[in-house]
Order: sequence, then structure tokens, then C-alpha cells
Amino acid sequence: MNRAFNFSAGPAALPTEVLEIAQREMLDYQGRGLSVMEMSHRSDEFIAIAATAEADFRELLGVSDDYAVLFMQGGATAQFAAVPLNLLGDRSSADYVNTGAWAKKAIGEAKRYGKANVVASSEASNFDRVPARDEWRLDPSAAYVHITSNETIGGVQFHDIPDVGAVPLVADMSSDLLSRPLDVSRFGVIYSGAQKNIGPAGILVAVVRRDLLGRARADTPSVLDYKLTADNESMYNTPPTYAWYLSGLVFKWLKAQGGLAAMDACNRRKADKLYRAIDTSNFYKCPVVREYRSLMNVTFTLADGALDKAFLAGAEARALLNLKGHRSVGGMRASLYNAVPEAAVDALIEYMGSFEAEHT
Ligand SMILES: Cc1ncc(COP(=O)(O)O)c(C=O)c1O
Repeated sequence: MNRAFNFSAGPAALPTEVLEIAQREMLDYQGRGLSVMEMSHRSDEFIAIAATAEADFRELLGVSDDYAVLFMQGGATAQFAAVPLNLLGDRSSADYVNTGAWAKKAIGEAKRYGKANVVASSEASNFDRVPARDEWRLDPSAAYVHITSNETIGGVQFHDIPDVGAVPLVADMSSDLLSRPLDVSRFGVIYSGAQKNIGPAGILVAVVRRDLLGRARADTPSVLDYKLTADNESMYNTPPTYAWYLSGLVFKWLKAQGGLAAMDACNRRKADKLYRAIDTSNFYKCPVVREYRSLMNVTFTLADGALDKAFLAGAEARALLNLKGHRSVGGMRASLYNAVPEAAVDALIEYMGSFEAEHT
């Protein structure tokens, strides 16, 4: 078997053990004579798969019964609309913190449905940080405050949960949910596309405080309505069954690794050693202010951008894949999600050292 080290930002690396189980169960799921892909979502087998996935997710993250866990479609992009549609209610506006490309997309979409106030932004410094909390101009009458806990493109991450008072805090956690323990009770809504730390693309998990259910605008599309989704156990329409099943296998894998505290320790080790390698060289540079650097997406540039192509080609030759930065910002990006082993980071650091020595 030939498995490369995959630093893709998403869809991203999945644990090999998970793919092996899926492979074994592909044609004949637990002696039923059919694939999970071929089952009715109303079958006893699939309902058990779905319920186990939800129970494991709740256990991993410590989600109480005060919250509904919803499995939805349309990715985080659909949530950029679902959040204002479900939460604006009779309030005239919501507050947004602009930390980069994904926050901007959330703001743009929210503006289609109501007033989205940008209460803080790091755009002036090229999104190199999270704006300091004491600079946020929050409106106490806003329907909610929206943050992007990890900017996948810029490599900027919240390392603390901001205090926003009584207004519900909503977080797009598409690229860091399940990478570390989390105090869910601090949030009104958390949502995350699956294709980083949860499973394959095609499914999204939303954690919604139950008192926020039932406030959707009358013209909210049914598939985006949180209450309708909760009342129908995420099966108002046909769910992405296979992605749900694979996500469930990832949750089991995470539990077997020791849960989120163990993942956090490993993720910190991986990111720390890569940032150290960058900071101790005169050749590589990280554009993000130290205290806001992402543990999930490490962005860096080479001293000479003309060498980018050679760097990527050399990396590929060593089976270090998908290190190219997002097309909107250039440079390099190494995504170090849960399923990226420490050995991948060690191999990358070694390669970076030899490339530097060759070109200085
Ligand atoms: C932080 C963040 N938000 C939103 C999205 C959009 O997700 P999707 O393409 O699944 O709608 C992404 C995708 O990479 C992301 O990283």
C-alpha cells in the first residue's frame, strides 16, 4: 500500500484505519449483503449507524441535552445563509468578526438576509491576527455574534473563546472542530463541514442550543430550518448516508486515540515543531502573528517566491502532497488535521531543511 503524506486543506486526510474498515465493509456491511451506500436511510441498520455516530460525537465533545446535533447538507456555505435565516428572528442585525476569507464569505451571505455589522476586522493588517477582543464594538441587541474559529486559508485561529455577554455566540468551526476539547456551553451555534476533521465532504454537523430552535423566518428553505431538521432527526430528506457512516467511523477512531485531549496534545506537538522550524530559519516565514497562529493550517512563504514551484515539485517527489497555499494568498500551507501523523510533519521539516540548504 502506498499512502502519501497528505497536507490538503480539505477535503483532507482521513485515518487509514477508517478507510480500511470502510473497505472491508464496502460490499457487505456486517453480513447484511449490501453496502451502507445501498441501504435505505429508514432501515434499522442505517438508523443505528446514525444514532451511534451522534452519540459518539456528543461523547467526544461533551455536548449536553441542551443542544441539538444536526447532520445537514450544503456545507458551511449553506450555513452562512442558515444562520441568519434561523437566528435573526425579530432582531434587525447580527454582529460579525472579520478574520479572513471565510469570515468575509459568511458576512457577504448574511447581508442577503439582514444587516451584518462588522464589529471588528484584521483586514488592515492583511488578516495576520484575530482582532483584540477589547476592540470589538458589539451591539448588545444583536441577534448573535459570528466568528470563524479557524481561518483555513489565512492560518489564523482563535485560541480562546471570546466573551460576548448574553448574545448567542455562533462559530464556523469547519477547520478545527474535534481538533481540541471545547466548552460547548459557551456557544449558541457551532457548525462545521466534515471534510477536515470529521469525515468526507458532503455532510455538515451543526450543534444548536435548543432555545434557539423555532425562530426561523417563514421563508427559510425546509432543508436549512434547524427546528425541522431537529424534529426529523436530520432525516427530513434523504441524508448523505455514506458520509454520515464514514464520519461515525472517524468518531470511533478519535475515541480509540484517547479523545480530544489526546488529539489536542498531538496537534500541538505537530504545529509547534513546524512553526519552530519556520521561525529558526532565515528562509521560511510565517505571515501570522505568533499568538494567533493556527494549529490546523500552517501558512508560510519562501524567501524567494520564484522557488515555490521547485519546492512543491521536490515535495511531491517525496510524497509530501498538497502544500500549495490557497490561490488567493499564494505561498505554502501545511494542513495538520487529526489524521495527519506526526511522521508527516517530521518528513516535511526534514525536506524543508534540505531544500533550504540547497538554495542558500
Ligand atoms: C472555515 C471554513 N468555512 C467555510 C468553508 C466552506 O465550506 P464548504 O465548501 O463545505 O461549504 C470552508 C471550506 O474550506 C472553511 O474552511
